Amino acid sequence: MISSMERQRSFSFKPTRLLVFSFIIFSSIFFISTFTIWLTNSTPSLHQPTIHLHFNTVSSSSSAAVAAGDTVNVGLRSFPVQFLAGSTKNFTVESVKFPTFGTQNNSLFGSKSEGVGHHVSAQTVNFTAMQEHEASSGRKVSNEQEKVAAGSTGRVKVPIFEKIEQKKAKGCDLTKGYWAFDESYPLYRKDSCPFIDEGFDCEGNGRLDRNYSKWRWQPKDCDIPRFNATRMLELIRGKRLVFVGDSINRNQWESMLCMLLSAIKDPKRVYETHGRKITKEKGNYSFRFLDYQCTVEYYASHFLVHESKARIGQKRRPTLRLDAIDHGSSRWRGADILVFNTAHWWSHYKTKAGINYYQEGTLVHPRLDVSTAFRKALKTWGSWVDRHINQRKTKVFFRSSAPSHFRGGNWNSGGHCTEATQPLNETLGGTGPEKNLITEEIIKQMKIPVTILNITGLSEYRIDGHPSIYGRKTQTRSIQDCSHWCLPGVPDTWNELLYFHLQTR
Ligand SMILES: *[C@@H]1O[C@H](CO)[C@@H](O)[C@H](O)[C@H]1NC(C)=O
Ligand SMILES: *[C@@H]1O[C@H](CO)[C@@H](O)[C@H](O)[C@H]1NC(C)=O
Ligand SMILES: *[C@@H]1O[C@H](CO)[C@@H](O)[C@H](O)[C@H]1NC(C)=O
Ligand SMILES: *[C@@H]1O[C@H](CO)[C@@H](O)[C@H](O)[C@H]1NC(C)=O
Ligand SMILES: *[C@@H]1O[C@H](CO)[C@@H](O)[C@H](O)[C@H]1NC(C)=O
Ligand SMILES: *[C@@H]1O[C@H](CO)[C@@H](O)[C@H](O)[C@H]1NC(C)=O
Ligand SMILES: *[C@@H]1O[C@H](CO)[C@@H](O)[C@H](O)[C@H]1NC(C)=O
Ligand SMILES: *[C@@H]1O[C@H](CO)[C@@H](O)[C@H](O)[C@H]1NC(C)=O
Repeated sequence: MISSMERQRSFSFKPTRLLVFSFIIFSSIFFISTFTIWLTNSTPSLHQPTIHLHFNTVSSSSSAAVAAGDTVNVGLRSFPVQFLAGSTKNFTVESVKFPTFGTQNNSLFGSKSEGVGHHVSAQTVNFTAMQEHEASSGRKVSNEQEKVAAGSTGRVKVPIFEKIEQKKAKGCDLTKGYWAFDESYPLYRKDSCPFIDEGFDCEGNGRLDRNYSKWRWQPKDCDIPRFNATRMLELIRGKRLVFVGDSINRNQWESMLCMLLSAIKDPKRVYETHGRKITKEKGNYSFRFLDYQCTVEYYASHFLVHESKARIGQKRRPTLRLDAIDHGSSRWRGADILVFNTAHWWSHYKTKAGINYYQEGTLVHPRLDVSTAFRKALKTWGSWVDRHINQRKTKVFFRSSAPSHFRGGNWNSGGHCTEATQPLNETLGGTGPEKNLITEEIIKQMKIPVTILNITGLSEYRIDGHPSIYGRKTQTRSIQDCSHWCLPGVPDTWNELLYFHLQTR
């Protein structure tokens, strides 16, 4: 019965139906071919040469090493890259070092000091580029012309290659671009900013070369508006802009204070609300800009979760409560703009190698690997944000981890960067350290939207931006700071990105 009805229906082709049917077929074909032509014209990257990089690395590594809390390499897999400058080339790059899980020694001056160090042991990576497809000459020529033109106006393109990614249909990918030399930078003079502490005051500590403060980040597909301090102050009028995190966030916060101060006529109308002086040790600062009735604050929180103590055996020992937000969180709550970070302290050395250190409830884990712990802590942070942040009032940012550039050793074994006065020509690319991936994953699961300030890739080029031996008035060549950043310098760019996001959201 049913089958005969179906047959009947399917075979009853009336002329009108046939007409409609063929019209649909025709318009589909028309649409598809139009779309294909449009797609071909609008994505020139399809015709650009694709190159595969093959990496040989000195030290062996695997993801298993991460779990075991061992030395880790960063993202050394083959990936296709787009070549801007030409055909086959060989280049050798000293690897960029990210704060990684589980490296041996992590502190510049012992456990109570700044979170620097934390790096992979130095290694040289060989890149051998092999061209896979013939280049369509058009784009290449225009790139060469661009280079020449850029050169003659005093602007230099730095990266030689970049990773091909599917072009984002909408918006602009701020992470893809190059550093352009720009004499109109820096955005403020060191002498006009009293907020730069010794550790970041490279010029004050005797660094003579200045080019490191004159590079502007230029995204490939769009422009970042130049930072306008007046406009930024207007954006935060009557509001609280709050940075929470480790000393690298203090670095960015001091940069923001300096950038904003440049628009204030009477510097006396900017002051710390409790008269505190900026030092390395504390992190509890709220600077008021009287003219705009706003505050720009910084709260130190190395892990974002609570650093606690618990009885282990006979003694009370320091632990990290993975299930409890930092007790300072009450001070972040009412903020209008929150910029978080945590990365550098999640290391073998700073976390007692994960032995009897991580605590949940009354349980102190006898041993826990650092990436599991990091994930749990960020979950705790994410739930806190979801529970306590009002989406209509507060914009939340998380700054991705900043790379460090120790060459020829670790922070405490002669690692250095003092000779670098130019950005690197190329970086490893890739997705960056595992912490960024975990952060991204946690943020995707959250209810409150969080914008990632993705500064990892662009900062990788900037080996020239660290204090090196100029992190102190009295220089010692033996210990260098290749983790923090000189001011003015690279963190100014991070703040320009923050400014960009605040304007466009
Ligand atoms: C890198 O290449 C150079 C020259 O081709 C070679 O001597 C060196 O051993 C290579 N290094 C690694 C880690 O493969
Ligand atoms: C690349 O390196 C190989 C061996 O190291 C060498 O024979 C070749 O000429 C190099 N190519 C270029 C373009 O430098
Ligand atoms: C770590 O630092 C300590 C001193 O703080 C030093 O004794 C030890 O040798 C260092 N270990 C490594 C692997 O660098
Ligand atoms: C950097 O500074 C030096 C002199 O201090 C100058 O010769 C050079 O052209 C500058 N620019 C770049 C991009 O290195
Ligand atoms: C900065 O912003 C202010 C206020 O929006 C505006 O009046 C001023 O012209 C801007 N300055 C520049 C250099 O664009
Ligand atoms: C931070 O400052 C506030 C306000 O003065 C104070 O109540 C709080 O105890 C301070 N916290 C720390 C950790 O210094
Ligand atoms: C980077 O490029 C500049 C000019 O484009 C060149 O002078 C310099 O030697 C290059 N550095 C490296 C490490 O290849
Ligand atoms: C951050 O930028 C890098 C390129 O610099 C990219 O590989 C990575 O996926 C980006 N991460 C996020 C979360 O956007």
